[in-house]
Amino acid sequence: MDYQTITYQESGDFATITLNRPDKLNALNNTMLNELDECLKSVELNDNICALIITGQGEKAFAAGADIAELNACDKLSGKMFSEYGSYVFRRIEKMRIPVIAAINGYALGGGCELALACHIRFGSEKAKFGQPEVNLGIIPGYGGTQRLPKVVGKAKAMELIVSGNIIDAAEANRIGLLNQVYKHDELMDKTLEFVSTILSKGKIAVSTCVECVNASEHLSLEDGLNYESMRFGDVCGTDDFKEGTNAYLEKRTAEFKNK
Ligand code: COA
Repeated sequence: MDYQTITYQESGDFATITLNRPDKLNALNNTMLNELDECLKSVELNDNICALIITGQGEKAFAAGADIAELNACDKLSGKMFSEYGSYVFRRIEKMRIPVIAAINGYALGGGCELALACHIRFGSEKAKFGQPEVNLGIIPGYGGTQRLPKVVGKAKAMELIVSGNIIDAAEANRIGLLNQVYKHDELMDKTLEFVSTILSKGKIAVSTCVECVNASEHLSLEDGLNYESMRFGDVCGTDDFKEGTNAYLEKRTAEFKNK
């Protein structure tokens, strides 16, 4: 499918979505959110895709936030809808049943930082910069920043970033747990692909079940989460991959998973 504001590329059993408005630092406009939503839906329906990378086109930005020109037209009612729509699309990312990895190649500000927060794993280049600068515009983060950032970096650090609008570099983002890893700018994609190939060498059913269980931990009590985990553990014990993985270990050979 042809998109105007993103590109979508499948490479074997993983896919990459690239935010593609580099002249506007990949600012998230309504068309981009629509296209992301469409694209994510098609990835969800494609059983051949086992991991998804989200990155930004160009040297400068992952995404420099929601498109301020569009945002400028909001009033009380349309502002609420603006926020709800972005949150809905980002929630779709978070609820994906395959690992979603943000490869953050530059500015991740406002909605760009919130998009990264909705991904399961975040790798950043040394050039990446993070922040929630919405207070500079007289607004608040609207695509989940006030809710996800505290869960990732703790309440006090999130509060500091959100009320100040301060921008932090990749080293600081890594230090506070906003990034999983920082890589040299030119190595970001190679390192991300290396990680993806590690995931792809595992049993696909096991990996996606892990994603679902970890996601479930966010809304279940410990008691319910443990019950859910046991149920899903039983599910994977019923797969051919489980027999193959355990047999291969016992026979001292590499497992050949069939994703069944
Ligand atoms: N919305 C719309 N357009 C944006 C944008 C955004 N969030 N962020 C950048 N752009 C546009 C700029 O308007 C500019 O467009 P133009 O060339 O047509 O004037 C282009 O992207 C390049 O940005 P520019 O500001 O010239 O780059 P810079 O290197 O000088 O500064 C930033 C980079 C990220 C510091 C700066 O662009 C910025 O502050 N952006 C807004 C960040 C923000 O507040 N995000 C939260 C939005 S809710």
